[in-house]
Amino acid sequence: MKYKNPTAFPQDFLWSAATSAYQIEGAYLEDGKSLSVVDLNINSAYADTSITSDHYHRFKEDVALMKELGLKAYRFSISWPRVLPNGRGEVNKKGIEFYLNLVKELKENGIEPLATIYHFDLPDCLQKEYGGWSSRKIIDDFAYYCEVLFEHLGENIKYWFTINEQSNMFLLPYLMVFDTDKSLEKQKYEMNHIMTLAHAKSIQLFREMVPSGKIGPAIGISPNYPKSCDPKDIQASREADDFRTYLFTDLYVYGHYRPNIWKYMLENNVAPTIMEGDLELIAGSKPDFLGLNYYQSRVVAYAPETLENKDIILNTGGNKGATGYEVIPGIYQGSSNQYLEKTDWDWEVDPIGLRVLLNDLNDRYHLPIIITENGIGAIEELTKERQVHDYYRINYLKNHLAQCRLAINDGVKLFGYCPWSFMDLLSTTSGFRKRYEFVFVNREDEDLMDLSRIKKDSFYWYKNIIETNGDML
Ligand code: BG6
Repeated sequence: MKYKNPTAFPQDFLWSAATSAYQIEGAYLEDGKSLSVVDLNINSAYADTSITSDHYHRFKEDVALMKELGLKAYRFSISWPRVLPNGRGEVNKKGIEFYLNLVKELKENGIEPLATIYHFDLPDCLQKEYGGWSSRKIIDDFAYYCEVLFEHLGENIKYWFTINEQSNMFLLPYLMVFDTDKSLEKQKYEMNHIMTLAHAKSIQLFREMVPSGKIGPAIGISPNYPKSCDPKDIQASREADDFRTYLFTDLYVYGHYRPNIWKYMLENNVAPTIMEGDLELIAGSKPDFLGLNYYQSRVVAYAPETLENKDIILNTGGNKGATGYEVIPGIYQGSSNQYLEKTDWDWEVDPIGLRVLLNDLNDRYHLPIIITENGIGAIEELTKERQVHDYYRINYLKNHLAQCRLAINDGVKLFGYCPWSFMDLLSTTSGFRKRYEFVFVNREDEDLMDLSRIKKDSFYWYKNIIETNGDML
């Protein structure tokens, strides 16, 4: 439904853009930083994390561009191994200084810093020492890392995100390290439980140390539509959402496992170990808001028990049609959506899906929401005039923002929007071949070129949107 007199975006709406540390900073072994699991395991078919967009050395130039764009806020992540090269213990002075300087620069330019504590980059030393997220030892180390951040940066950063895309970390092989001799499914649920405890503990600490701040997770969600109105498909889509989304969000907000997923875990011997006090800790650490990373919706159909189990095959090359859909016999199987256009990476472009999802999250959790990621990846080159005509991106953002405005009119408490990403960066799956949003970085996977920054057409478009508080949509 459209409204006759829709209200505008709120006056204090956080017009923002996002990035993450290992994808833009580079300097992966500089000034005391140690390596993370992502530095070591990122898809080696593309560029590595050593230089990426060289933001570590060029952050002032980048913040100047943010200011020119008119950003009201900027979401970035902090690298744990830069701040604590040994994972715990002594703070790396130069590491923390980098973030203090970045925050200072942002604030001096009138940009609100939004900080993500953990965006996939676990210090590799902790992985080697005790198996990283597979051990409860990490809960104390993560809490210590948070304590260091809140102590040094708490005064100057109001909005914090605990963990980026907890659910997706179990999908991509290079974001987590698994023991190949053990059941993968059991390990995932154990690690997920431990990660949720770490998230909860960080919120408890935050309440003590940064009482005037706001904190929440950044969740990656691709909602599942039923392939048809066959009730079997409807039930399959609900279960797909339960496994892929609500397992995580119910834990974050209500501190309990969904009964159907819990029963599945018990029946399949994959339930995590729950110790006394775990669920109380989680339930007592309700977030202030939900961060939502939304790129696409998915379609699922019922999967008969006779089918063979299949994992998702990710399209990492940008060749349309390379995606292989997941099949979980007896539960659901993925499929494509005939009504939607797809990117070269087969991501289904679905702005209305964002409105549906925002309303769904609002109805379930009654919390304010900020869109922490949303955008379109594409292969891009400079024209002879050194320009990038990314009209498809302008369309993508425009259509998604229009649905955000409708969602606000529906009653969703949406308070910010962070397109992914502020500038070209190392795509998690596809290197610099897949570029995102407003600023072109002049380099390729194999050739560093001059790393200069060039404003894309979408830069000027977004600037206008921000200036008019969304009225120019
Ligand atoms: C999100 C991640 O999953 O999607 C980002 O938080 C990532 O780190 C983004 O870059 C886009 O994914 P990709 O694979 O295109 O880089």
